[in-house]
Amino acid sequence: MKLSVNGRDVNVEAAPDRMLLQVLREDLDLTGAKYGCGEGQCGSCTVLLDGVAVRSCITPLKSVASKKITTIEGLEQDGKLHPVQEAFLDRDAFQCGYCTPGMILSAVSLLAKTPKPTVAEVKRGMNGNICRCGTYPRIIEAVRMAAGVKS
Ligand code: FES
Ligand code: FES
Repeated sequence: MKLSVNGRDVNVEAAPDRMLLQVLREDLDLTGAKYGCGEGQCGSCTVLLDGVAVRSCITPLKSVASKKITTIEGLEQDGKLHPVQEAFLDRDAFQCGYCTPGMILSAVSLLAKTPKPTVAEVKRGMNGNICRCGTYPRIIEAVRMAAGVKS
């Protein structure tokens, strides 16, 4: 199958019902998306499909063929981090970092729909992303900082 990943066309030999997370990590060596629950419940495997956050652990390959896939590895442009990545660094919005790629991509997706989110909107929009280290207050601050609604 031909896929579009992080702006590049790649060919993968994989059964269409294999899950995208598995293909990204095992076939394409893109290990930023993490395996957490494997059931669509934790958000650690989040990637963007045409700019919208999806759980790659429950997304079969056959459903992504015509879509643009973005992983955390593809978020920076020309060596420059995405503003959400910068804000996470600025706010120390992580501890172990396991949830972070998924958090950042969910935030990018949220901000595309809601550019100036309130705290409540961030909480609602990122409700499906779990941080076992409990860094939620700093994550919320980082998302709002990236949106320019919090300095
Ligand atoms: S690993 Fe995909 S949602 Fe948890
Ligand atoms: S920083 Fe450890 S799970 Fe979120």
